[in-house]
Amino acid sequence: MSRSKRKWDHIQYALATGQSLKTGFDCVSFVHQSLPNTKVDEIDLQTKIGELSCSSPIFINAMTGGGGERTIDINRDLARAAKETGVAIAVGSQMSAIKDANERDSYKIVRVENPHGLIFANLGSEATVEQAKTAVDMVEANAMQIHLNVVQELTMPEGDRDFTEALKRIEKIVQGIDVPVIVKEVGFGMSNETVSALQSVGVSIVDVGGFGGTNFSRIENERRKRLLSFFDDWGIPTAASIVEARTNHKNITVLASGGIKSSLDIAKSIALGANAAGMAGYLLKVLIEQGYHQLIEEIHYIHDELKYIMSALGANNIDELQNAPVVLTGEVHHWLNERNIK
Ligand code: FNR
Repeated sequence: MSRSKRKWDHIQYALATGQSLKTGFDCVSFVHQSLPNTKVDEIDLQTKIGELSCSSPIFINAMTGGGGERTIDINRDLARAAKETGVAIAVGSQMSAIKDANERDSYKIVRVENPHGLIFANLGSEATVEQAKTAVDMVEANAMQIHLNVVQELTMPEGDRDFTEALKRIEKIVQGIDVPVIVKEVGFGMSNETVSALQSVGVSIVDVGGFGGTNFSRIENERRKRLLSFFDDWGIPTAASIVEARTNHKNITVLASGGIKSSLDIAKSIALGANAAGMAGYLLKVLIEQGYHQLIEEIHYIHDELKYIMSALGANNIDELQNAPVVLTGEVHHWLNERNIK
């Protein structure tokens, strides 16, 4: 199957298989405060992703690129929406465009449409330093995302079967390029051990890409004859993964993603220790089913709602929201207890 056909299939299957809702955010409750001493108009949503300053704690996570006109249109709309709402945006994996220069336009358009915004390049952990440099140059990226997607590869009939030396290659990229590196999962979550290993080679930003949203095992299983259905329920729920990543890693910026669909999910992610939250499948669904204007409206609503939530909690800024007390129950409480992670 051609790479561009596969990319289009991913979009279709991602919309069809939907999100599995087991993010764990249901097990996270805020503690209501009756005297918050806040003003909605003065709530500050600015945050930092490593050294990068962002006016919003939301980013549009990596989705697409390559694959012809349809993906150019999607990326153009996502880039315009990012510009309009001041959120950062990641492009999809650029490996196809590194191998075939004809594929580059659908990535470059993101920078053309959003000349001053924060843009993240994207490649897998098989990438070399030279490839990472090319990817960064292609979109004049402010940061480089490296995705880890072992379970997706295993579920893909034509996927990788050799996962050795990934950490060494990541270390070389961290040392060899001059923008910050964000290592991300794609919906299976990141463990405390994974984040420690990444930290040991100099990675300072991780995106947990937790379980509960877009499910690449289900997507890839759609194309298999004999299903690897045991991978459909595989992964660390996003809420638990944020705490896994946060614990004992003081100098790491944690980004939340995986099934984030609302202002409340974002607020809970930040209260668990994230600096910002990435949305992929949900925003793609809004764009494809309701259109570009609705996408912009949705992001504006989420910003407004975040200010309401922060006002109710007495949190004037993202820093204060990170310190808002939460109570953990159910599966997430149990998970973290079993893992001895607090
Ligand atoms: C993705 N995702 C992704 N991630 C990545 O690092 N490189 C990529 O090329 C892609 N491609 C891609 C295509 C489509 C159609 C979707 C929906 C997603 C994964 C994405 O960035 C994110 O990690 C997961 O989708 C989990 O987040 P959501 O979708 O649950 O918000």
